Amino acid sequence: MAGPIPFSSGDYWEARYREGGTSGMGSVGRLARFKAETINRFVVANNIQSVIDAGCGDASLLALLELPADYVGVDVSPSALARCAARFPGRRFVTPGELRTVSPADMTLSLDVIYHLIEDHVFAAAMRTLFAWATRFVVIYASNLNVAWSSAHVRHRRFTDQVAATEPDWRLLAHLPNPYPFDPASPHETSFADFFIYGRPDAACSIVVPGLS
Ligand SMILES: C[S@@+](CC[C@H](N)C(=O)[O-])C[C@H]1O[C@@H](n2cnc3c(N)ncnc32)[C@H](O)[C@@H]1O
Repeated sequence: MAGPIPFSSGDYWEARYREGGTSGMGSVGRLARFKAETINRFVVANNIQSVIDAGCGDASLLALLELPADYVGVDVSPSALARCAARFPGRRFVTPGELRTVSPADMTLSLDVIYHLIEDHVFAAAMRTLFAWATRFVVIYASNLNVAWSSAHVRHRRFTDQVAATEPDWRLLAHLPNPYPFDPASPHETSFADFFIYGRPDAACSIVVPGLS
């Protein structure tokens, strides 16, 4: 007898966007403003000329980002990519399978994505991609603890252990806590994610922490 169908993170996100859903509460309001301000300042301070945004979502956050023209948004959901392309016709959007046609960038981004990578092989492939396609910085905004969670589309992981084990050419340069730590009484306006910025061991890196807004 066939067992239960295993959860597919790709199918989950495509169905969610196809049915009119959004990237979630981390892509709007004060959480999105904190993410965007941190990234926008980092881009200027470090003269970032090219960006690959792995898991770009429905473009709500992208609308707040001030990024160079050399930008590629990647998402597992074709419906999300179609929304992004309609809103930002001058920018390029591709599926993970099409990423092989894209050159590496100064910085790869993974924002509120890692704890949605439920399957081990999807998580491993996404982490490999983030580091293989970055020449200077990998900027991750995610939870970083192994804790059980009740939602089927959330799986928290201590991803920094994985990076330490698999990416010896990279160093964790900074951990920037999010100013709105998770509070179960206010789950839509708080988050379990923080910023983790990786660079080459000899990288010069300037980080400007935004004020609260
Ligand atoms: C919570 S949303 C975050 C969107 C955006 N980064 C933001 O911060 O607003 C997570 C996104 O990751 C995408 N995603 C999930 N698994 C992925 C994968 N394996 N490769 C690329 N994108 C993926 C989903 O489709 C979704 O758009």
